[in-house]
Amino acid sequence: MSDIISIKTPEEIEGMRIAGRLGSEVLDYITPFVKAGVTTGELDRLCHEYMVNVQGSIPAPLNYCPPGYTPYPKSICTSVNDVICHGIPDEKVLKNGDVVNLDITVIKDGFHGDNSRMFFIGEPSQLVKRLSEVTYECMWLGIAKVKPGAHLGDIGHAIQQHAEKNGYSVVREFCGHGIGRVFHEEPQVLHYGRPGTLERMEAGMIFTIEPMINAGRRDIRHMGDGWTVKTKDRKPSAQWEHTVLVTETGYEVLTLSAGSPPPPAFITEAQAAVAA
Ligand code: MF3
Ligand code: CO
Ligand code: CO
Repeated sequence: MSDIISIKTPEEIEGMRIAGRLGSEVLDYITPFVKAGVTTGELDRLCHEYMVNVQGSIPAPLNYCPPGYTPYPKSICTSVNDVICHGIPDEKVLKNGDVVNLDITVIKDGFHGDNSRMFFIGEPSQLVKRLSEVTYECMWLGIAKVKPGAHLGDIGHAIQQHAEKNGYSVVREFCGHGIGRVFHEEPQVLHYGRPGTLERMEAGMIFTIEPMINAGRRDIRHMGDGWTVKTKDRKPSAQWEHTVLVTETGYEVLTLSAGSPPPPAFITEAQAAVAA
């Protein structure tokens, strides 16, 4: 990784808009299949076929191999219940009460679109429902901090505050990341921190915000497959992810499509106030 944060050209931004929309549309496509009885391997196969055969996009995770890792063997990540991130699709059957994060990254014309959503199988427990809601709010509170001149620490602080206020904890070993022609590039976008610290944002930067929030303690453990990360206390974890562009006046979320859940009311109310 280079230690400078790239500023995307207008042409690169256009490519990232397309990749971002396609990444979100894979989540739209798979939504009706995420129900009791399906295996995570089947969800992977369906997403792979859709990306390759319908979109003409490339699943970025497949064979992805950062330093110190083995090549990732599948096309999406499926993180169930106490899996924090990087769950590998397999023959595991989803059952009522499970909660799963599907993390999709497509490559289109060389550009990456990275996003994830939470899905409930049947009726979730009150705990898991609230955890997922708070995590979604955390992501959007972070996004709302994005504008030129603001600091990356502002994002982390907003996320950490909201998570901890609700009695949850923030995973520290994984963070958001710059993204473009490269899957993971500078900067690191921490989901905890202090306002006014770390790099200043500039128009044309593109990065993800993808808080992993644990119902219990923040401690993690690595599974023997080289990828899967779980909570140490076996309590559930939630994650939502968007890819975001810093604009001249604020932000543009790139990973949006017809099926994206609406932003929380505090976002739409703030937008209405600006428009008035
Ligand atoms: N999509 C994940 C992220 O948000 C990265 C997954 S890497 C993989 O950064 F190899 F596990 F797919
Ligand atoms: Co990401
Ligand atoms: Co992702």
